[in-house]
Amino acid sequence: MAISGLLRCGEVAIRVFDLDEARHHYGKCIGLIESYEGDDDKIYYKCPDEHDQYSIVLRKDDKPGIDYFAFKTLKDEDLEVYEKGLGEFGIECNWIEAGVYPKSGRRLAFTLPTGHEMHIYAHKEQVGNGMATLNPGTIPDEGYIRGMRTVRVDHLLVGGPNIDQNREIFEKVFDYKVSEQLISHEDGSRLAIFMSGSNKPHDIAFILQPEEGRFHHVSFLLDSVNDLYHAADLIGKYNIPVDVPPNRHGVTRGATIYFFDPSGNRNEVFTGGYVHYPDTPTLTWDTTELGRATFSHDNLPRESFLNVLT
Ligand SMILES: [Fe+2]
Repeated sequence: MAISGLLRCGEVAIRVFDLDEARHHYGKCIGLIESYEGDDDKIYYKCPDEHDQYSIVLRKDDKPGIDYFAFKTLKDEDLEVYEKGLGEFGIECNWIEAGVYPKSGRRLAFTLPTGHEMHIYAHKEQVGNGMATLNPGTIPDEGYIRGMRTVRVDHLLVGGPNIDQNREIFEKVFDYKVSEQLISHEDGSRLAIFMSGSNKPHDIAFILQPEEGRFHHVSFLLDSVNDLYHAADLIGKYNIPVDVPPNRHGVTRGATIYFFDPSGNRNEVFTGGYVHYPDTPTLTWDTTELGRATFSHDNLPRESFLNVLT
């Protein structure tokens, strides 16, 4: 498979109560790089190994959660194809001109059946990852010393009703695959759906929730379990509220820590997991194995993890 359509989640716009507190959390503690200064009172960050101008946008608001998330696609002409495909599901799209979002090409914007605003764009200015493209070496001059040593935004999990309709759209319009799913052992209904458009075990996941537009977490990739332990040390040092200490998911087999930003938005640091191919069979967990599916070290289903969203 060549990854040739919807590449990855390239942007998450998170609402926070206080920009200074958020800057301490996302900048100093996690170690994201403030990579664009606009005149819009937002904070723009990128992870150290990302090339595009920014991937996390923070906006002050009195309600946490996300304004939207945006996926990058390979070619600008993909956008018309997606508009047509989404139209077949009755989803109306809006076009956003290039430059409305800083350093970004034009965007297709629409609302998913779960109530989330999603954008798709093909272009965002690239500022690089601190290494040359000719003879780049292996690490930037100063090394990866910032905060939790994040590599890039890996995936996000969002909650709402109609997750099966989201699944159908991602399958039919974006050619994504269901890598794993959690079903009710009582009636077989899908409670969580994990979808991959790449070799990652998931690029996005949907969890069934009664209320539209909920945000469960954004996940930052780390290089190794050593880095995960280093992140745990920083979480302790900076008194960051922990949701789930170091553990390993059954779903995706990734090693993980969940914690909260000062506004109650959940973050994850994540490493490992298997390589997913388009012909990898869908793995199904039922709710008799909810503990192992979520946290395999202690097989403990955690109420807060399943039901606290912003
Ligand atoms: Fe995750």
